[in-house]
Amino acid sequence: MTRQARKLEHLRHAVEQELANADFSDVELIHNCLPETALQALDLTTTAAGLALARPLFINAITGGVAEAAAINRDLAQAARSCGLAVAVGSQMAAIENESCRDSYRVVREVYPEGIIFANIGVNAGVTAAQQAVEMVEADALQVHLNVPQELMMAEGDRDFRGYRQQLAAIVQAVKVPVIVKEVGFGIAREQAQQLQELGVAAIDVGGRGGTNFLQIESARTKQQISPELLQWGIPTALAILEARAGAPAVDILASGGINNGLLAAKALALGAQAVGIAGLALRILLTAGPEKLVEHLQQILHELKMVMVMTGCATISELRQAPLVITGRAREWMTARGLSR
Ligand SMILES: Cc1cc2nc3c(=O)[nH]c(=O)nc-3n(C[C@H](O)[C@H](O)[C@H](O)COP(=O)(O)O)c2cc1C
Repeated sequence: MTRQARKLEHLRHAVEQELANADFSDVELIHNCLPETALQALDLTTTAAGLALARPLFINAITGGVAEAAAINRDLAQAARSCGLAVAVGSQMAAIENESCRDSYRVVREVYPEGIIFANIGVNAGVTAAQQAVEMVEADALQVHLNVPQELMMAEGDRDFRGYRQQLAAIVQAVKVPVIVKEVGFGIAREQAQQLQELGVAAIDVGGRGGTNFLQIESARTKQQISPELLQWGIPTALAILEARAGAPAVDILASGGINNGLLAAKALALGAQAVGIAGLALRILLTAGPEKLVEHLQQILHELKMVMVMTGCATISELRQAPLVITGRAREWMTARGLSR
């Protein structure tokens, strides 16, 4: 199967997959009945990978490389622009291999010239491809994705994952923009976060379990059997944030994986993320309800986030990151077992 055909199937199966939100049910923010702040006085600015973001929400990597992807990327970039969000393009490998695909990525920079845009490449793409990916969209940062379970589930996927750290180190050294290492829905543990910090990455996007499930997408796509227990592989997003923070305290932590509403975004930020990313749901709304509805939903997430900031008495994202919260149940047990704190 060609890379192009696979990309189309990913889009279709991602939208057909049952919608899932990340599980933050063990994390409770505490209501403040005397907040001493105002909705119009909130400051939503944050920083990620050394970049100033106007909002703590970004549209994460989804697509590129096929004709349909050009229209999707245009709409995603326009939605990001009208909401003041950063936006990532999908893996640019298709355009590295085939120049005629480049416009489907460049469109993001064309419609959002002043935007914060993330390039995207796989870790084994190599240094030259990483540099080309950054130049192609005049990126402000480079996302490097890690997706071992997905590769293992794909008939045509990689089977040998040795040498990744060395390849990452070379990319970090070579590119002129900050590097964000991201998972695609299986999370990043403390030990690997520490290794990533040592390699000099600027940010880690934990891409935890709970939202888009690439084991499920690949199994539906290729009609391969997978046991239901294995389908739940990965570190839940809420815990992946704590894992990554513990392993890489000097690195900015970004959160994604099923962060589909403003309360979940607020909880992710309160657990220590600098910003949160949304992919699957943004794509689903765009393809099933259109670009206006996508903008409405992104605004709704921001509005709910602001409500929670007021209701917790937090005027800024850094205050939200210190807001009182309680962690109970299985999440608390996980923290104890792994020696994690907030
Ligand atoms: C259709 C689709 C394609 C994706 N393609 C990429 C990709 O090319 N590169 C990448 O780093 N992540 C890719 N992702 C993963 C997302 O960026 C994100 O990490 C993941 O979907 C979890 O976030 P979510 O639960 O909000 O969807 C893709 C996601 C979807 C839904």
